[in-house]
Amino acid sequence: MMILITGGSSGIGKDLARAYLTRGDRVVLVADNKEKLETARAGLARISPRVDCVVCDVSDAAAVRGMVASVLSGYGCPDVLVNNAGFAVYRSFEQSSPEEIERLIGVNFLGAVRCIHGFLPAMMARRAGHIVNVASVAGLMPITPCAAYGAAKHGMVGLSETLRFELRDFDIKVHLVCPGRVETSFFDHETFRRRPRRPETEKTTPIEKVSQGIMDAVEKGRFFTVIPRTLGWAIRLRNWCPSLFDVWLGWLLAKRTREARSMAEKS
Ligand SMILES: NC(=O)c1ccc[n+]([C@@H]2O[C@H](COP(=O)([O-])OP(=O)(O)OC[C@H]3O[C@@H](n4cnc5c(N)ncnc54)[C@H](OP(=O)(O)O)[C@@H]3O)[C@@H](O)[C@H]2O)c1
Repeated sequence: MMILITGGSSGIGKDLARAYLTRGDRVVLVADNKEKLETARAGLARISPRVDCVVCDVSDAAAVRGMVASVLSGYGCPDVLVNNAGFAVYRSFEQSSPEEIERLIGVNFLGAVRCIHGFLPAMMARRAGHIVNVASVAGLMPITPCAAYGAAKHGMVGLSETLRFELRDFDIKVHLVCPGRVETSFFDHETFRRRPRRPETEKTTPIEKVSQGIMDAVEKGRFFTVIPRTLGWAIRLRNWCPSLFDVWLGWLLAKRTREARSMAEKS
């Protein structure tokens, strides 16, 4: 199979590439930092030479069109398109500039929209393919701060929910994957590094578990995956009766936002 992974130069995307390469698949990595991408490709090539990379900022519509054209002509249509590129900041909505808000939506949501739209004609012509959208638990419930990130991830959830039925007649499967906290360079942003330690951020999910969860979802044709599964049950419970659970959750989320605001004032 040919797997295209956006955000394949680090974290979840890179580990997923490792897992697919170990299995013998061909992988194309996409990310916007050229040097980091080439370093990741060279490292992964030690596992298998069947790894290539294409530089692309997924928030740039013209760059995505160029990337899609070069992938289709160089490697053919991906069997699995993994929309994984993303980033967040630990800032409340009003603390982010309009440009930062647009970039958050542009990378985390519109990036996936553009990649899907670019590859869909080829997938539809083949009447086959898998689209994996890596959202987050922040796409299933509110997690403060960073409403723009939450909105982008909720957008990914809504897109996936609807697209899977729109594409059913073409045998294209959509998979929505929502990980909890995974220790990656995602948290290297200065706003995460400056924040105080919080008990709820101590629990992390091993990265290999996320990669395996994505591969299983594709293999088994599963639409919805929360990793870890226990977090999925907690979210279902909260969404079943938000008025009950939001007494506690609201207190926690407001506290986190207050901390982010005072952190910004001190800096
Ligand atoms: N880590 C977590 O706790 C967690 C939890 C839930 C969901 N997620 C989601 O999982 C995905 C992967 O995150 P991660 O934890 O693996 O973070 P990461 O290690 O920081 O990796 C993010 C990847 O996205 C790429 N990327 C960022 N902006 C891009 C752009 N404009 N165009 C193309 N590529 C871009 C990065 O490449 P460059 O460095 O070249 O920009 C990098 O390869 C994200 O969508 C994130 O929202 C993460």
